[in-house]
Amino acid sequence: MSIQINTEKGVMRLTLNREDKKNSLTRDMYRQLADAIIQAGDDESVKVIRIDGAGSCFTAGNDIHDFASQNHSDNVTDTVAFMQALVECEKVVVAQVHGLAVGIGTTLLLHCDLVYCAPDTRFILPFINLGLVPEYASSYLLPRMAGRRKASEWLMLGEPIEAQEAMNFGIVSRIVDSDRLEGTVSAICQALVGKPAFALTQTKQLMSNDTDAVLQQMNAELDVFLEAMTTDAAKEAFSAFLEKRPVDRNKFK
Ligand code: COA
Repeated sequence: MSIQINTEKGVMRLTLNREDKKNSLTRDMYRQLADAIIQAGDDESVKVIRIDGAGSCFTAGNDIHDFASQNHSDNVTDTVAFMQALVECEKVVVAQVHGLAVGIGTTLLLHCDLVYCAPDTRFILPFINLGLVPEYASSYLLPRMAGRRKASEWLMLGEPIEAQEAMNFGIVSRIVDSDRLEGTVSAICQALVGKPAFALTQTKQLMSNDTDAVLQQMNAELDVFLEAMTTDAAKEAFSAFLEKRPVDRNKFK
């Protein structure tokens, strides 16, 4: 089971648990996440969903083996189901991040309500270096959060975002010392569980007034993303990673 699911005291905790592969996300893991979030939505005893990663990092993003074999929409069905469930989730979603949050590992945080990270966390949107494009409304949300110029550095240069910068631009709620992160997030989840259910859900709903625009941009990005996956640049980037060799930049034309 690459997603560990533990429901206790009103909190459904979803732990990305594929440590030997840096918690990179497979189709099966996306499906488990989607199913769990949908189930939490139907379960009155769950008020909060908490997402974290086991081992040395949050996640290294999409499994690149899967990317290399995906070039049409059927193959991203599970990823889309997960992100759609997250965007439409009525329960409060809290993320606890450490180490690395790569690709969709950062994109998914844009759809969480509260995000806490360790000081050493780096957020990386490497799509451009893989011949790919932003996904799951990051091309809509990041320019609004950070301004077009800063978002362009992240999305066009693929520059890592340090924890402090992520907090300055609203990607995270707060940076918490590594040794206090687990306890702090547990306390925040319990504080949320103690809030009045109707008011909590409605507060989230009221702040989610651009969901239609987000879903529309997700669809627009997906079309381009699937096309990008078929380019020579993307195929070269995937092969280079899987063969553990440098990219041949002549193919980045
Ligand atoms: N997909 C598939 N496997 C991955 C992976 C990914 N996204 N990220 C890491 N892994 C695997 C590695 O292939 C390696 O497997 P192996 O032990 O069988 O060789 C294992 O996880 C450990 O990764 P490694 O690269 O040795 O760890 P590291 O600490 O040196 O580097 C990263 C960690 C995350 C910086 C590096 O693995 C990386 O760049 N991964 C790709 C990130 C990425 O581009 N993701 C796609 C986002 S769109």
